[in-house]
Amino acid sequence: MKRLFSGIQPSGTIHIGNYFGAISNWIKLLGKYDCIFCIVDYHAITIPYDKDMMQQRIFEAAVDNISAGLDPEKCKIFVQSHVPEHTELAWILSCFSRMGELSRMTQFKQKSEQHKAHANCGLYTYPVLQTADIAIYKGEVVPVGEDQVQHIELAREIVRNFNTAFGDILPEPAELLSPTPRIMGLDGDNKMSKSMNNHISLTETDEELWKKLAPAKTDTNRQRLKDPGDPAKCNMFSYHKLVSSDDELKQVTEGCTTAGIGCFDCKKILCKNFSELIRPIRDKKEKLMKDRDYVLNVLNDGAESCRKIAKETMNEVKKAMGL
Ligand code: AMP
Ligand code: TRP
Repeated sequence: MKRLFSGIQPSGTIHIGNYFGAISNWIKLLGKYDCIFCIVDYHAITIPYDKDMMQQRIFEAAVDNISAGLDPEKCKIFVQSHVPEHTELAWILSCFSRMGELSRMTQFKQKSEQHKAHANCGLYTYPVLQTADIAIYKGEVVPVGEDQVQHIELAREIVRNFNTAFGDILPEPAELLSPTPRIMGLDGDNKMSKSMNNHISLTETDEELWKKLAPAKTDTNRQRLKDPGDPAKCNMFSYHKLVSSDDELKQVTEGCTTAGIGCFDCKKILCKNFSELIRPIRDKKEKLMKDRDYVLNVLNDGAESCRKIAKETMNEVKKAMGL
């Protein structure tokens, strides 16, 4: 089986964008690949964070992912900082990363602008550490959302530079996009993100869900109930496509384009369907949050088996480099 690797930051409760852009795809690939999933705490410290919250965030990221369907029996789940070889290889790969390429990265430009007073080298070399995450396990397949494609393209280049110098040691990783690789936020203008107040988390109660959906932007041409709308211009319709049945999609398309139903009723159907997706995940999370030992054991076992693979790769890399 080919090896698959992906990562997620412990920077807040996971949301519908993470789920449909990445996690739902991860679940489908369990059993088809040798899967490793990593909670990337070293990436999360590249922007200001609350140290007293970190352990809780890491724990919650593990719980969120297991609740959403990552079965620890079918994959390894671990915390990045528990396997020191990630940063060791990152240093080596930084010597094969071009500064010009790193400064072209969209995420670097956005985040260094957003956190101007805190723009640091970690933010700049973030994609190098991401490359090391994958390469230390000789990962070949990397399922991510669209926002990460640029980083995986750069990972291929860094690995290629390394291999050109020292032989074909590290495989060039390929991204694997989900059918829905870019989910927009509730504002309709930006991608859904943990750091922006535009997300639907995977643990919303029905009341919280409705509170978020009710005021959310729809087709702006639809000012009054009798104005027909265009689903192609409505962010809510893009959400319907994620969770509603074919019949419901037909019903809301007809209703919207003929002004047969209003946005309120359309959102009610959406709310019901999101609620059906979220409820079992929320219930499982509630149980797992109380089962600390189980979750910590999963992370410990994951780190233990990952350390073995990481050590082997590091030995091979150092030998090839004359170190
Ligand atoms: P992050 O929360 O930034 O660590 O992202 C974890 C995974 O979710 C990555 O594979 C991202 O590409 C994916 N992801 C995050 N936000 C979105 C979004 N709005 N749409 C699609 N995928 C996303
Ligand atoms: N940068 C990714 C994100 O923000 C997380 C990540 C870190 C990752 N290392 C990775 C994803 C390796 C895939 C492979 O979403």
